[in-house]
Amino acid sequence: MAQAAKPSKTVTLSDAGSGKKMDLPIIDGTVGPSVIDIRKLYAGLGYFTYDPGYMATGSCESKITYIDGDKGVLLYRGYRIEDLTEKSDFTDVQYLLLYGELPDKKQKEVYRALITNHTMLHEQVRRFYDGFRRDSHPMAILCGVVGAMSAFYHDSLDVNDKEHRRISSIRLIAKIPTIAAWAYKYSLGQPFIYPRNDLRYSENFLHMLFAVPCEEYKISPILSRAMSKIMILHADHEQNASTSTVRLAGSSGANPYACIAAGIASLWGPAHGGANEAVLNMLNEIGSKKNIPEFLKRAKDPNDNFRLMGFGHRVYKNYDPRAAVLRSSCHEVLDELGVKNEPLLELAMELEKIALEDDYFVKRKLFPNVDFYSGIIFKAMNIPMSMFTVLFAVARTTGWIAQWNEMMDDPQQKIGRPRQIYTGYPERPYVAIEKRG
Ligand code: SDX
Repeated sequence: MAQAAKPSKTVTLSDAGSGKKMDLPIIDGTVGPSVIDIRKLYAGLGYFTYDPGYMATGSCESKITYIDGDKGVLLYRGYRIEDLTEKSDFTDVQYLLLYGELPDKKQKEVYRALITNHTMLHEQVRRFYDGFRRDSHPMAILCGVVGAMSAFYHDSLDVNDKEHRRISSIRLIAKIPTIAAWAYKYSLGQPFIYPRNDLRYSENFLHMLFAVPCEEYKISPILSRAMSKIMILHADHEQNASTSTVRLAGSSGANPYACIAAGIASLWGPAHGGANEAVLNMLNEIGSKKNIPEFLKRAKDPNDNFRLMGFGHRVYKNYDPRAAVLRSSCHEVLDELGVKNEPLLELAMELEKIALEDDYFVKRKLFPNVDFYSGIIFKAMNIPMSMFTVLFAVARTTGWIAQWNEMMDDPQQKIGRPRQIYTGYPERPYVAIEKRG
């Protein structure tokens, strides 16, 4: 990791109560907001900071992804997401996120061969699946099997060994599509389909999801291109909840399989990666355009915890650029698949139109996010709803691994241990049970 960002100026804090003053360094990034370095605040003025949900708190320095929420810009290592989805495939983007540069032809060939040769799972891993109910949610299976991988790879669990980190990173990125596809096959009661070394990452994933031993599965170039684009869009996103979970787990020195399993668990929440499945459930519940006003009323009612799934974002206060790419891809994929007038897409576009004209959403800068349209494309690709968040996890594994490695290489890295403001009882005398109540 290159030199950490350097302080450029200071901000002076003065505490009226004690009369103490303190200069705190301000650190500038390449682009985006500068930060106030508060590491010496407690020693200097005796205060912690307080920021539930980390609305305005930077947890780390990173060179991987940058979001300008006001402008709706997303950059992976400086490249615009629109350029990457149009001109790169997911293997390009994996290499870019992991190593910082787009690969040249030779680098891409070597990397692709490395990933391809780690896509198979140990035959014992198949037995983990038998312990699950057939109707288990595939995210539960993904979380369980990824965590259990640390029971297999004892040869690469020393997180302080760069070579162990390298091989674990490759294993996780290579195997996550196989684990995910087998979770789907298990739910169908169909035989597991093994990865093939003649197929590319997205093609292999589609093949393992949809092929059956009884006949040849023809891989649609449209679907594999759409899958590659969807993976690129979902690959990384700064310090979102699941990435922060991976970093926090990794900061204690936990092994990468356990850290990625923790990230999968966090992504599952409907406020995060689980929103794509929740959007489809919501659209099915709305049913028709005439019901939209009733649901918008509920979304605006502070006493109703219903929210418009696929809308709003902690960082984007403009249209999520990934939603814009997916919105246009929706039409492209549906047309190419010959899916005429998909009612859910029409309903989603009408819902978006009405919401974006509604003062409640405009005032709060609530725009469609990445999850609003992804589910409609997944449905058109015959991906079952229970697998929507799994696809998100397959793609985000690359981002989680890139962020985990960046953290492990960061000389400033320490175990993450937030403080708190305590509002419970002050010390009090013990009460024997006879004297209670
Ligand atoms: C992802 O962080 C990332 O980068 C995540 C992600 C990634 O790639 O990793 O981008 C992926 O998780 C996208 C988000 C998917 N989640 C959803 O679509 C679920 C619906 N969205 C909301 O739950 C919400 O918008 C969040 C969780 C996404 C963001 O919540 P915040 O930043 O904590 O915002 P907030 O809850 O403080 O909301 C601010 C106001 C509130 O109203 P007031 O209290 O000011 O009156 O906006 C309202 C909220 O009630 N609001 C919504 C709303 N989202 C926010 N009202 C109705 N519907 C919504 N969707």
